[in-house]
Amino acid sequence: MALWGGRFQSGSSDMFKQVNDSLPFDYVMASEDIWGSIVWSRALKEAGVLNENEQFQLESSLIALKKQAEAGTLDFANSPEEDIHSFVEATLTAELGDIARKLHTGRSRNDQVATDFRLWCRSHLASLREDCLNVISALLKVATRHENAIIPGYTHLQRAQPVYFAHWCLAYVEMLKRDVSRIEDLQKRLNQCPLGSGALAGTTFPVDRDKIAAELGFDSPCLNSLDAVSDRDFVLELLFNASTSMMHLSRMAEDLIFYNSGEAGFLQLGDSVTSGSSLMPQKKNPDALELMRGKCGRVFGNLQALLVTMKGLPLAYNKDMQEDKEGAIDSVNQWHICLCIAVEVLDTLSLNEERCRAAAQQGYANATELADYLVAKGIPFRTAHDISGQAVVFAISKGKALEDLSVAEFQSINDKIEEDVYPVLELESVLNKRNVLGGTNKELVIRALYVELEKLDQL
Ligand code: ARG
Repeated sequence: MALWGGRFQSGSSDMFKQVNDSLPFDYVMASEDIWGSIVWSRALKEAGVLNENEQFQLESSLIALKKQAEAGTLDFANSPEEDIHSFVEATLTAELGDIARKLHTGRSRNDQVATDFRLWCRSHLASLREDCLNVISALLKVATRHENAIIPGYTHLQRAQPVYFAHWCLAYVEMLKRDVSRIEDLQKRLNQCPLGSGALAGTTFPVDRDKIAAELGFDSPCLNSLDAVSDRDFVLELLFNASTSMMHLSRMAEDLIFYNSGEAGFLQLGDSVTSGSSLMPQKKNPDALELMRGKCGRVFGNLQALLVTMKGLPLAYNKDMQEDKEGAIDSVNQWHICLCIAVEVLDTLSLNEERCRAAAQQGYANATELADYLVAKGIPFRTAHDISGQAVVFAISKGKALEDLSVAEFQSINDKIEEDVYPVLELESVLNKRNVLGGTNKELVIRALYVELEKLDQL
């Protein structure tokens, strides 16, 4: 039975139900909806709307229903109800009759849905935060497993300067740390309670909104009833946070897909996160990583979709806003899945340290060192850059690495280059000279690694 039948002479058409009903997806908020109703029934008792016995019966039935919702035994699929709010009320009414018909006093589905969805987002944000921390932990673990490994660092996907593999891992740790802090930030802003705002203008029943908010674990009630029922910023922020974090995962996936390619051969992915080809028996494809990258499409799309849905809406509630759910539920699911599979990928990858090192040594990645060496000998950097460039061209023409040129060959380019250039061009020296805060110097990298490990332990 619809909650609003009185004014209508005929029922909804099947097509209208298809476009209007949200139960097929908002059933995921069953537990939150019931919790909200429990707290609302207490508020109604204190406001003198329900007597003690009525409230007791409602609360007992709602608790039982909540248990069923959490055990997954409620049959939403065969229900004619329009949304989760109607479903809960109808189920309660079938059991308690008129007492249940008092529960919606002073309340609207508008403040109800805004409250339910905040609760739903809040609980998912808490577990997504854990998921992000697990990725951080997996990055730190793989970095620790390969503390000495050196990989080429790239700009423009050209070998640029070598870096420790752990430095690469710590770069993604920084990104994930920002994802965590964005979640924490949102958790604070989201934690205000709309319940008691009625349809849009507040309620005439003397409910204690501070108490309602506190009982539902909110920091405070929303301050303006019009805003409370029509605000979906928290969903947009959630979608933005999901998008940004997925973008980070996607960039990591892209790096790893390249490192795993036959051409780079820096690492091997675990069998458990790859798949084969139905035709080519030799193939082992990085599907998990490709899907971490590919799922960004729908997650970014969900953000865009809700922004567009919200942009022209007049105050206060409009049914358009029901469109906030499917995208958010999807983004939360995909983000969760990708964070979890990222952990599995990192836990099962094995780095080919020798091949990484060899690649880091190639590509004239120490040309900057040669320039810096000349700077130390009093040559202005711009000139030094030029000389080093000439040395690279010369070395390429001889088919040699810079460090394989003889002193005589170097001096044919510039006579300031002497025997002492060789230690400067060595791989470890190239890395360790970058000892400014945030650089890829070994000690700094290891220290950063342990600082992050310790922080994670303390959480
Ligand atoms: N199912 C709706 C939603 O998800 C809530 C119901 C509000 N309906 C209404 N007629 N005011 O937004």
